[in-house]
Amino acid sequence: MATNRRVQTLDEFTIQQMRDFPNATGELSGLLRDIGLAAKRVNVEVNKAGLVDILGDAGTMNVQGEEVKKLDEFANNQFVGVLRHGISCAGIGSEELDDIVVFDDEISNNSKYVCLFDPLDGSSNIDVNVSIGTIFSVYRRVSKLGEPATQEDFLQPGIKQVAAGYVIYGSSTMMVYATRRGVNGFTLDPSIGEFCLSHPDIKCPETGRMYSVNHGNFFQYEEPIKKYITACQKKDHTNGGPYTQRYIGSMVADVHRNLIKGGIFMYPITTHKPKGKLRLLYECNPFGFIVQVAGGKATNGIQNILEVQPTALHQRSAFFVGSKGMMDELETFINEA
Ligand code: AHG
Repeated sequence: MATNRRVQTLDEFTIQQMRDFPNATGELSGLLRDIGLAAKRVNVEVNKAGLVDILGDAGTMNVQGEEVKKLDEFANNQFVGVLRHGISCAGIGSEELDDIVVFDDEISNNSKYVCLFDPLDGSSNIDVNVSIGTIFSVYRRVSKLGEPATQEDFLQPGIKQVAAGYVIYGSSTMMVYATRRGVNGFTLDPSIGEFCLSHPDIKCPETGRMYSVNHGNFFQYEEPIKKYITACQKKDHTNGGPYTQRYIGSMVADVHRNLIKGGIFMYPITTHKPKGKLRLLYECNPFGFIVQVAGGKATNGIQNILEVQPTALHQRSAFFVGSKGMMDELETFINEA
C-alpha cells in the first residue's frame, strides 16, 4: 500500500522537540519513552482482560499454572519497574501505593524528575470492556541533585508540572501528553508496536455541548452545582437545546472525549464525600494541566486546580474541567452563590 505521509513515532517526536533546546539533556524524552513502554505492556494485558474467565481469575492460577495478577497491580508494577530501571526518574508516587518510592541509587539520585501516576484509572470498568486509562504527571525535583528524592518533590502544586499525560486503552490505544509547548496525541499502531503522532497540537474547543457528571449523586451536590446541571438540561431550542449528558465512570475516557469534542467534566463534593472523590495529585492535576495547555480550564470550584498546594500524597479534591466557555458558565452559578 502506497503512503505519502511520513508517520512520526512518539520517540521521534520527543527527540525532535528536544533538538529545539540545545541544552536539553534528553531526560524528559527518556522518561516519556519509559512511560510509553510500560503502557504498551499494560495494553497487552488489558486486551486480554476479557479472557480472564478462561485463563483464570485474578489471584488464582491460570491454565499455565502461573498466578494471575490483578490488572491494576500488574499495571503498577510495570510503571514502577520501567521508571526504576530507566535513567530519568528519581522516584515515583502511585495511586496504588501508600508511600512514595525513592529509587535511591547513583543514577536515579542524579535524575531531575519525579513521576506521579494512577496506573489504571477506572479499573472497575475492566470487567465490562469499557475504556480505562493510565494518568501521569512529571515534576522537576526541588530537592538536591545527587541526593535521594524527598516527599517535597511530590507535594508541589500542579502549576509546577513539566509534563502530564494519559494513556487510554479504548477502541484504539492512545497516549496523549502535554508540556507547556502543547498537547499531542499518539495512537498505538499494533502492527509496529509504536505510538504514532495522530492528533498533533490538540486544542480543547472553546465551548461544547456535553456535560459529564454522576447524575445519581444529584441530590447530594451543593445548590450551585444542582442549578448548573439543571440549566444544562433546560437549555431550549433558542440556545441550541439541552446539553447532552455523557458519563462513562472512567475519567480518562470522559475527559478525553470532552478534550477533543468540547464539554465539561465534573466530580463535585457530595454529602457522602465532602472532600471529593478524585485524587489531586494522580487525577486532577495532570488533567488540569493537559486541558489548560489545550486552552480549557480546570478548578476545584474555588480556585484554579493547579494553584492548590498539596498537603498529602493521596489528597482528594472536587474537580471541574473542560471547555473554557462551559467552565465560565459554571463559574457564574458558583459565584452567584
Ligand atoms: P476507579 O478507578 O475506582 O474505578 O475510579 C474511577 C474514578 C474516575 O475515573 C471516574 O470518573 C470516577 O471515579 C467515577 O466515580 P463514580 O462511580 O463515583 O461516579
